[in-house]
Amino acid sequence: MPNTNHPDYPEEYILGRVQFFSKDFIITPDVLIPRLETECLVRKARNIARTIPECSLIDIGTGSWIIGVSCADIESIRSIEFSDISPDALAVAEKNARNLIARKDLSLTFSLGNLLENYTLHGKTLPKTPLIITANLPYIKQDDWEHMSPDTKFEPELALFGWKTTWFELYDILFEQLKNIKHSEDIFLIIEFWYDQTDIARKTIEKIGWKYEIFPDYAGIERFASIHIPPQ
Ligand SMILES: C[S@@+](CC[C@H](N)C(=O)[O-])C[C@H]1O[C@@H](n2cnc3c(N)ncnc32)[C@H](O)[C@@H]1O
Repeated sequence: MPNTNHPDYPEEYILGRVQFFSKDFIITPDVLIPRLETECLVRKARNIARTIPECSLIDIGTGSWIIGVSCADIESIRSIEFSDISPDALAVAEKNARNLIARKDLSLTFSLGNLLENYTLHGKTLPKTPLIITANLPYIKQDDWEHMSPDTKFEPELALFGWKTTWFELYDILFEQLKNIKHSEDIFLIIEFWYDQTDIARKTIEKIGWKYEIFPDYAGIERFASIHIPPQ
């Protein structure tokens, strides 16, 4: 059990609530505390959705589901899938979805899974509409406590740490899945990473040949990419 009296123990976990994109989300120690910068990803997803008459959204690594919920009022989005590898995180996501989404015409699904494996290995088929995929996957260097604030050690490691070499590996796997998946409509993939992974993101996406844009957070640091994957 964590020491909730520790001076670094996050207030958000004590209060059980956090504000994100003007909404009040339930939060527990099973999920990452949403960071303000992730709003930049949400804004991009909302803007893309507004340009498409009808689309679906898959939020991979959904955590407390802040990204999906913050896009749910855009009417062109007809379905949202919330997906995470952590069953505990999904339980929180489901509560937030039910509390905060008023639309009755929006189809909501919650799926346990490793990135897009439900589609690449387990026979699920992608929606037959243009698709927006959002992902804020773990990207911190393993045990890089020196560059992390002390309260971070109370957050789930599964939500923080990337793999072992570039810490961009989860995105490498996701890109590989998307290169091989059959889809008849455009896919717009929007991802968040750390400032020291911008070059790696650029090089990897350019090598694949997808059109993309890198965009900044509120401090001007370029650590998001919006990628267009044409039908294949
Ligand atoms: C950095 S947190 C982001 C949570 C939330 N989307 C946000 O922006 O605040 C990363 C999330 O990815 C999930 N995750 C980690 N590895 C995953 C994988 N291989 N497949 C799917 N989800 C994964 C974690 O459980 C965690 O909820």
